[in-house]
Amino acid sequence: MSLEIQPLDDALGAEVSGLDLSRDLTSEEIGAVQDAFLKHHLLCFRSDPLAPQDFATLSRHFGDPQLQLIRKSRHDDVPEISVLDSTYKRPEDKPADLKLNRKAGWHTDDSYFEVPAKVTLLQSIEIPDIGGHTQFCNTRKAYEELPDTDKKRVEGLLAVHAYDTMRAPARAQKRTKQEEAETPEVVHPLIRTHEDTGAKAFYFNPNRTDRIVDMGRAESDALLDWVHDTITQDKYRYDHEWRVGDILIWDNRCLVHSVNVDFPVGQTRLHQRILLKGSRPQ
Ligand code: SIN
Repeated sequence: MSLEIQPLDDALGAEVSGLDLSRDLTSEEIGAVQDAFLKHHLLCFRSDPLAPQDFATLSRHFGDPQLQLIRKSRHDDVPEISVLDSTYKRPEDKPADLKLNRKAGWHTDDSYFEVPAKVTLLQSIEIPDIGGHTQFCNTRKAYEELPDTDKKRVEGLLAVHAYDTMRAPARAQKRTKQEEAETPEVVHPLIRTHEDTGAKAFYFNPNRTDRIVDMGRAESDALLDWVHDTITQDKYRYDHEWRVGDILIWDNRCLVHSVNVDFPVGQTRLHQRILLKGSRPQ
């Protein structure tokens, strides 16, 4: 087997094959995969579902796993893994207006922290027969293709990120008192410079970015609506149709994602997720 990296889409993403994930990776393999990651922002490895400990071991090739906010999702034996069960267990769990499922909203993981996770690893354990794709948009391309006048318009702007914002149509998961205390509002630049590549990208989380600092609500909402529509254009988008065991690893510094939440009631949709420590957005 030799390592191959095939783009998945013009917008972003590549599939990695020829790598045996059950053994230690060589430094050449790790180097090639890391280069591909910085170029494509999302990599897909086809696999069988990994035991939680093996998933955590794999993640350490890319960085340091961190504990995730919501305690009740943490895996009992490997707490850096969150178990994400998005199954509609009862008919009343699936809203008629699918926008009211929080996962349908575009977001970048963890931006409500002062130091958000840089990378997400997500592996599918069970998937529904139809629907449930995870959708991604490339916010680096969206920024780079802006006309200069628009680049000037957003230059130097700061945005407030909160655990929840009324701008999002659906409410965030409930937090415990301890989790609330750990998630005060934070401020991040609207345009972020990637620490490994120097590339600029929109750093905007439609589920969590509440407002632009020092701007009135109406003007701020209009600007954030425009950013939303700019970054989610089809030309920047890749939709991942899951196979059982797929491992996606993506860069939260220059992508947003959302879920196609239209899948049948009673069909299990289950993933395991690891977030890797990042640095303060600049
Ligand atoms: C997530 O938002 O991190 C999970 C995405 C998914 O369930 O596909």
